[in-house]
Amino acid sequence: MKIIMLGAPGAGKGTQAKRIAEEFGIPHISTGDIFRANIKEKTELGMEAKSYMDKGQLVPDELTVKILLDRVAKDDCKNGYVLDGYPRTIPQAEVLYDAVTKLDDKIDYAINVDVPDENIIDRMGGRRACVKCGATYHIKYNPPKKEDTCDICQSNLIIRDDDKPETVKNRLSVYHEQTQPLIEYYSKQGILKEVDGTQDIDVVFEDIKKILK
Ligand code: AP5
Ligand code: MG
Repeated sequence: MKIIMLGAPGAGKGTQAKRIAEEFGIPHISTGDIFRANIKEKTELGMEAKSYMDKGQLVPDELTVKILLDRVAKDDCKNGYVLDGYPRTIPQAEVLYDAVTKLDDKIDYAINVDVPDENIIDRMGGRRACVKCGATYHIKYNPPKKEDTCDICQSNLIIRDDDKPETVKNRLSVYHEQTQPLIEYYSKQGILKEVDGTQDIDVVFEDIKKILK
């Protein structure tokens, strides 16, 4: 099963993608996580990506597309994957479409996690992310068992550099301008599914499971 998660920054794409990946035994692929891992390792790609991410802008398609295509060509993607944060532009979606079509395959679902901008600002302020495995928590809505410690790998939790209020506002406007058109794009392809992302995390996941089963 090949799934795309759509939604604004902070809508809960990562939170739900992790659960989908566990439930269906497919890899969770987040381009944001791949960029952050590169930033941590101080690779050339990481340094270039950081200059855009810190401003809340998209990393250019040329860089992003290559990374995604390399990742989905790996062996563990043979039975599918859940993409979180890709595509974010129509050209990115077209590259993905061509790649899967070439393999006589298709994307099964594009799930849009719908959350209004007002809720997003509140969520980002309380988000904490694991430095090592990328798991995401929220101090109020999804707290870790032990403060500032990841439940899964016991590493430290941090506030992401791009979660500052000014950057979040910029990410939201970039989202509306460049990424939101994908909702219509996948609706036209007949694979768009909408879920109400303002509900409790468990309830959102139940709604997603109903779509996927
Ligand atoms: P990326 O890492 O993808 O960030 P994003 O899209 O801005 O999304 P987030 O990770 O911030 O939010 P999310 O939807 O995953 O929400 P989460 O589950 O964490 O990208 C970062 C940057 O990398 C981009 O800005 C761009 O520069 C670059 N980039 C990445 N991919 C790119 C691409 N394809 N092209 C170009 N550039 C790219 O949830 C948020 C918080 O809310 C958490 O604290 C969570 O615990 C909480 N929460 C989740 N669900 C709920 C709920 N139902 N109720 C209450 N709280 C909830
Ligand atoms: Mg995320």
